[in-house]
Amino acid sequence: MSLEKNLDKILIIDFGSQFTQLIARRTRELGVFSEIISHKKITNDKIDQTIKGIILSGGPLNVYESNKYSFDKKILFNGIPVLGICFGHQILSKVMGGSVKQSKHREFGLANIYKKNDSEIIHNFFKNKKSSNVWMSHADQVSKLPKNFKVIASSQNSKFAIVENKSLKFYGVQFHPEVTHTENGTKILSNFIFLICKFKKNWSSKDQKIKLIKEVQNQVGNNKVICALSGGVDSSVVAQLLNKAIGKKLYCIFVNTGLLRKDEENQVVNTFKKRLKINLIYVNAEKEFLSKLYNVSDPEKKRKIIGNLFIKIFERYAKKIKDVKFLAQGTLYPDLIESRSVTGSQTSKIKSHHNVGGLPKRMKLQLVEPLKFLFKDEVRKLGLELNLNHDIISRHPFPGPGLAIRMPGLITKEKIKILKEADYLFIKALRDHGLYHKIWQAYAALLPVKTVGVMGDNRTYEFLCLLRAITSEDGMTADYYDFKKNFMQTVSNQIVNNIRGINRVVYDVTSKPPSTIELE
Ligand code: XMP
Repeated sequence: MSLEKNLDKILIIDFGSQFTQLIARRTRELGVFSEIISHKKITNDKIDQTIKGIILSGGPLNVYESNKYSFDKKILFNGIPVLGICFGHQILSKVMGGSVKQSKHREFGLANIYKKNDSEIIHNFFKNKKSSNVWMSHADQVSKLPKNFKVIASSQNSKFAIVENKSLKFYGVQFHPEVTHTENGTKILSNFIFLICKFKKNWSSKDQKIKLIKEVQNQVGNNKVICALSGGVDSSVVAQLLNKAIGKKLYCIFVNTGLLRKDEENQVVNTFKKRLKINLIYVNAEKEFLSKLYNVSDPEKKRKIIGNLFIKIFERYAKKIKDVKFLAQGTLYPDLIESRSVTGSQTSKIKSHHNVGGLPKRMKLQLVEPLKFLFKDEVRKLGLELNLNHDIISRHPFPGPGLAIRMPGLITKEKIKILKEADYLFIKALRDHGLYHKIWQAYAALLPVKTVGVMGDNRTYEFLCLLRAITSEDGMTADYYDFKKNFMQTVSNQIVNNIRGINRVVYDVTSKPPSTIELE
């Protein structure tokens, strides 16, 4: 991973902690650009003038198992301030001549630390109190301080909870200032960044917008760029950013698979073509998708058929545009870290994901990924700066294969029509009751089961509608949303009374894991 060349930054060297991304988020929240790089990938020759401070993350390693990690120690001796967190604190102490031992009392969870000496790193951290609660998670600890280091704070079990070498500007903390459980933890990070590194703020949505537009212009010059627009947050922000940067040299392709939510194709065309005046090619491929999916009920087959056809259609239209050099994609920072992570383990494949990842290789296009250093909430803020309306920015995620994977079994026109209506009514009810934004994702699904009901003294034999609404941080794990009975009754009545083809509504109360968010 190469580092951003032009911006001053705090470099976060990742030793595999589950909180490394949080450190980056906290610095961004402080208005400071930061980048994460694996300890295995950073070498001293990559350290340049733009790096104003270095943070060594925590990690599951033991400093004495040096065969398990590699770290170019020269990085520490460029005159740049260093803050070591947990494992980072231990490795910093060891490199500087101290010792690290397994502690008698492992500390996991809250601990109380008290001040021993003054230092810029604790400026306003303790406020007027003698001690403060911090969050610890360690089995090892520094047992002997290196020469010229001073203790700034201790806990009952960690004598060296905060340490400093003032002349080298080296700081170590045994706890995790980046987690919210550490009282006032951000103060440690802001003291390091502003008081010790003397960093000047350089990160806001407005700055970003201007900077990203310039970068895109420099990267693509006068060439044509294509972009697959889905109407979701990431591709919408990419499209609008490129629209501002290169105007008509951008060609967005929006494929209507026939498996979108009710009226979605009209909303996308109205927003992007009519309101934002983006160069949008609308492809109605409904018939093609439905005929390829005819008689297919296997979930993986559905996903593969949809993914491949999507790529084929995209390529077909891209060829018509001629001389395209670039493909714009909404890759975000977590995607980038995850796919190139040090600790990222190979997980077993649960579902084939439908996206345009396979395109650049086949089409020999260069990638434009303007969001690759941003987190999702930063993308949302950027979207607002770019005049995208709140509705687009805060929409629930929608999977590429669309309604096909919310309709287990065979896909038919009739079922799609019923499902679109049910989903529309459910989402509308969420909005009407002020619940939409409390929920990470919600949808209706149509199960391939018919059950008996009674309506107006007549027997009915119709489909089963399943509702799913979950809360989540990132879609990796999820819990079901606990609706009030009143709301469930209203929605159920609306669906059954208004939609021919459904006579029963059920609510999915499984979490992820063991279930997944989508049904297929
Ligand atoms: P699962 O069902 O794996 O879903 O728990 C996690 C999140 O990913 C979305 N999802 C997809 N998004 N293409 C996408 O762009 C896909 O093929 C796809 N499959 C699932 C899902 O909606 C949820 O937000």
